[in-house]
Amino acid sequence: MKDFVLKGHVCYSKSKSELITRENAYVICVGGKSKGVFSELPRQYAELPIVDYGDSLIVPGMVDLHIHAPQYAFRGMCMDLELMDWLNRYTFPEEEKYADLEYAEKAYSIFVNALKAGATTRAVIFATRHRPATELLMDMMERSGLISYVGKVNMDREATEALEEESAEMSAYTTFGWINAVKGKFHRTKPILTPRFIPCCTDELMEELKQIQMTYGIPVQSHLSESPGEINFVHFLRPNNAFYGDAYNDYDLFGKNDDINTDVKTVMAHCVWSTPEEVELMHKNGVFIAHCPASNMNLSSGIAPIRKYLDMDMNVGLGSDVAGGHSDSIFRAMTDAIQVSKMYWRHVDQSVKPITFPEAFYMATMGGGEFFGKVGSFEEGFEFDAVVLDDTTLAHPQELNVTERLERAVYLELDRNGIRAKYAAGEQIMI
Ligand code: GUN
Ligand code: FE
Repeated sequence: MKDFVLKGHVCYSKSKSELITRENAYVICVGGKSKGVFSELPRQYAELPIVDYGDSLIVPGMVDLHIHAPQYAFRGMCMDLELMDWLNRYTFPEEEKYADLEYAEKAYSIFVNALKAGATTRAVIFATRHRPATELLMDMMERSGLISYVGKVNMDREATEALEEESAEMSAYTTFGWINAVKGKFHRTKPILTPRFIPCCTDELMEELKQIQMTYGIPVQSHLSESPGEINFVHFLRPNNAFYGDAYNDYDLFGKNDDINTDVKTVMAHCVWSTPEEVELMHKNGVFIAHCPASNMNLSSGIAPIRKYLDMDMNVGLGSDVAGGHSDSIFRAMTDAIQVSKMYWRHVDQSVKPITFPEAFYMATMGGGEFFGKVGSFEEGFEFDAVVLDDTTLAHPQELNVTERLERAVYLELDRNGIRAKYAAGEQIMI
């Protein structure tokens, strides 16, 4: 069903500061794309089937710009260390288990079911370095109806022996095989090149990945300037780079580069400690920032200066970063983003104003959605991703307006038990 009309209280971003709420409105989907939101049903759409969701809220699907599928199993545990120790002590040993397809099947089905049950319609996902388990995850994601980029991780140093790939050549060879097997195989599930981060990738591997990117033209995801220990280590490993992001840029894996006429769609998670030069290059290259506030708190990484990035009109979305983040809820990530920005304002720099609710909603929908194209709004031409929220469980003694109800639905995490229906690119994926 790709041509239909939904009726309800429709909420969506028009820009980063403009949150639109329309009571008892019609939002129209034709060919999987929005035709816009209307108070009266336009005559040319009168014949389309209408689903009337009554007093429910209709919002765009949430976009998770950064999540690790294999870490879902240990979310909410192991929160006592900073990034580098946390990786060595907990994360790498867990990821080793995905060499076993039986384990991967069990764990990934829990992950995919959870994502499907929440408000997320699109996600940019790290798998592990194992090709068979990554393909299994892609199969499962495809069947879920969710839309995603999934990356087989590349890592050939500084992990456990079992998790490191044998050599840069082997890592590249496996990656070629994987991309050839999955490229064009799926409708909704696409490969994304995934160097884990600079500490885990030798120069030889980065050179190989540059060649693979040029061959296939696929997008790139990685981590950037997340934690002080990590950043010091990158400076030690790559002393000739003036800043961390420059190491990705050396291999043209850092957004667009007008000098050589390339445009590599890139998302970097965190950017908590980016220097002014790094920010300038991300801005110039159109690199997407996946802001992962819960992870940044759990791993004591810091507070990313998101207000600055938004004011510079950079590409910013939200990520759950499970299992650095303990919850896959992007509603929760919105609240966290607002809260940490208030602490930044109070404790770090009082000239940097906190993030507003409309801005957080924008990042969760349109901001991250742009990584997928025209996604994350109900403005005409956007792909039709929608979530229908029933907030009748959230009793209130007064009548609230739709804007108040939306904010409350997010803060009170109505994506846990209040989802009535969900659509991705015009397909209903949940009743
Ligand atoms: N940097 C490299 N790998 C990881 C990871 O798995 N999680 C987080 N948060 N940061 C990373
Ligand atoms: Fe991460």
